[in-house]
Amino acid sequence: MLGGIPRHVGVIMDGNGRWASLRGLPRVEGHKRGAERAKDVIEAALEIGIEVLTLYAFSMENWQRPRQEVSTLMELLKLYLSKELLELLHKGISFRVIGDRSRLPEEVQKVIEEAEKYTSSASRLTLVTALSYGGRDEILRAIRKIIKQGLRPEELNEEVFESALDTAGLPPVDLIIRTSGEKRLSNFLLWQGAYSELYFTETLWPDFTKEEFLYAIQDYQRRERRFGAIMPISTES
Ligand code: IPE
Ligand code: IPE
Ligand code: MG
Repeated sequence: MLGGIPRHVGVIMDGNGRWASLRGLPRVEGHKRGAERAKDVIEAALEIGIEVLTLYAFSMENWQRPRQEVSTLMELLKLYLSKELLELLHKGISFRVIGDRSRLPEEVQKVIEEAEKYTSSASRLTLVTALSYGGRDEILRAIRKIIKQGLRPEELNEEVFESALDTAGLPPVDLIIRTSGEKRLSNFLLWQGAYSELYFTETLWPDFTKEEFLYAIQDYQRRERRFGAIMPISTES
């Protein structure tokens, strides 16, 4: 018997550079094509009723890449957001960014703020983009916030801590998909993914299809999640 649809799915969209190199193209061509694939996955998430979709678009460590690649990625993001804002609104998608946005170029921060503001009351799907994001950095920033609030040690529990994370109010991530054959988390949702199911595929992100996304969801639905107990535990809402 198949289990329920995951409430929250995270995707590590990896392999853009290799996809381009294999074709003798510059890496940025892979990023462009990758942005198109993100649209397909958002569409699929809407169709099957996923509540939250988190796309890992740019990690804290990705700041180390050549300046040219970083700036093209930022441009692509700005372009994509300004182009798709109406579409997001139309589809009932609420947009949100997690990560240290203070490091992003000012114009990018502005577009993000606008998109967040205009889509804040949408409720069909929450589309989270992890941008300038690192799980360790997020945890440290949360601790700093808590210390600043003057919380006493005995007042700290998981709930309080979670409310200081960038993902405050979102359910834990049920399934993490990573493309391109790498089998690691690369600093993605470290706290939130404590009990995530993991799905790895060799497919490079620019070749990832809606069908493969749906296949990954089905694979998840066949799994037994025990959370350390003996009987499977359901996470359906
Ligand atoms: C993922 O693809 C996109 C980002 C990290 C921004 P990569 O750019 O990491 O592509 P590969 O892994 O080098 O092929
Ligand atoms: C992880 O991919 C980050 C994103 C997909 C945005 P990377 O390509 O940066 O990760 P590593 O270097 O292979 O661990
Ligand atoms: Mg990579």
